[in-house]
Amino acid sequence: MRDLTTKTKLYVLLGNPLGHTISPPMHNLAFEKLSMDCCYFPVEVSAEDLGTVFKGLSKMNVGGLNVTIPHKIGIMDFLDAIDPIAATIGAVNTICMENGKSKGFNTDGEGFIQSLEEEANISVAGKRFFIIGAGGAARAISMTLAFKGAEHIFLYNRTQEKAQSLVSEINEKIRHCAEAVGSEIHFQKEALGSCHILVNSTSIGMHPDIDALPIDPSFLQKELIVADIVYNPRETKLLQVAKEKGCLTVAGLGMLIYQGVAAFKLWTGIEPPVVEMREKVYQLMKEKD
Ligand code: ATR
Repeated sequence: MRDLTTKTKLYVLLGNPLGHTISPPMHNLAFEKLSMDCCYFPVEVSAEDLGTVFKGLSKMNVGGLNVTIPHKIGIMDFLDAIDPIAATIGAVNTICMENGKSKGFNTDGEGFIQSLEEEANISVAGKRFFIIGAGGAARAISMTLAFKGAEHIFLYNRTQEKAQSLVSEINEKIRHCAEAVGSEIHFQKEALGSCHILVNSTSIGMHPDIDALPIDPSFLQKELIVADIVYNPRETKLLQVAKEKGCLTVAGLGMLIYQGVAAFKLWTGIEPPVVEMREKVYQLMKEKD
């Protein structure tokens, strides 16, 4: 590692806990490959200290920040400006600092879309989506899809009221393009039959419950693109079943990588070395297995 000086631009990840984060090695590799005098490091901070720590950082040579669980909503109170998509989502995961002024963005949905567009070689505009989940991740993904011109978004969630409330928000605040799917099985089958892309944005299938499926696999037709935001395991049961049916699949690690790529571009205006970043992340995940 090169020597750090007072000129080194600092990039900081705020969250708690941060023990397993892969963001520092991913971003530091990009800075190194581009010979940029920058350094990315994680800071664990409690909700109580968030404001004090953020104010302190804004007095330092900080170029940008990432914010993760549990501070994506709380950090908004301390920002000078918020991008309209992040404001609508109601959560910030990336902050740009310029002349001591902060602006918040949300690259989670953008990261998902870029990963999907790259890996499935499609454009989300004009496509019909079936999204499972109505939590924070589903919110960022479905709202960004609505902003980016998805034709229709079906939302299906175990707790139906949460799906309905997210649908109302999308239709009122962005565009009238979302619809909740009822819990009866024939509603799911019918809605999914009219879609191009299925997205699991719940934690179903995540380690250790790796055999769990978020939907009846008999509904998967081979024309469907199937994406999962779960990246541990790297290939979930849903993706395995979908592959067996002949579907094109998109794994969750891509979203993790591209939300970082989108943040890097916002901070620096430079396209980072995605191939090397991806290799690094895959290598780190393998070491964890
Ligand atoms: P995140 O921020 O990662 O999206 P979250 O906000 O806690 O996390 O949301 C988790 C999502 O996974 C929710 O849609 C949740 O469904 P409920 O709203 O009904 O709780 C969904 N989820 C998690 N475990 C689930 C399970 N075993 N079966 C069905 N849905 C599940």
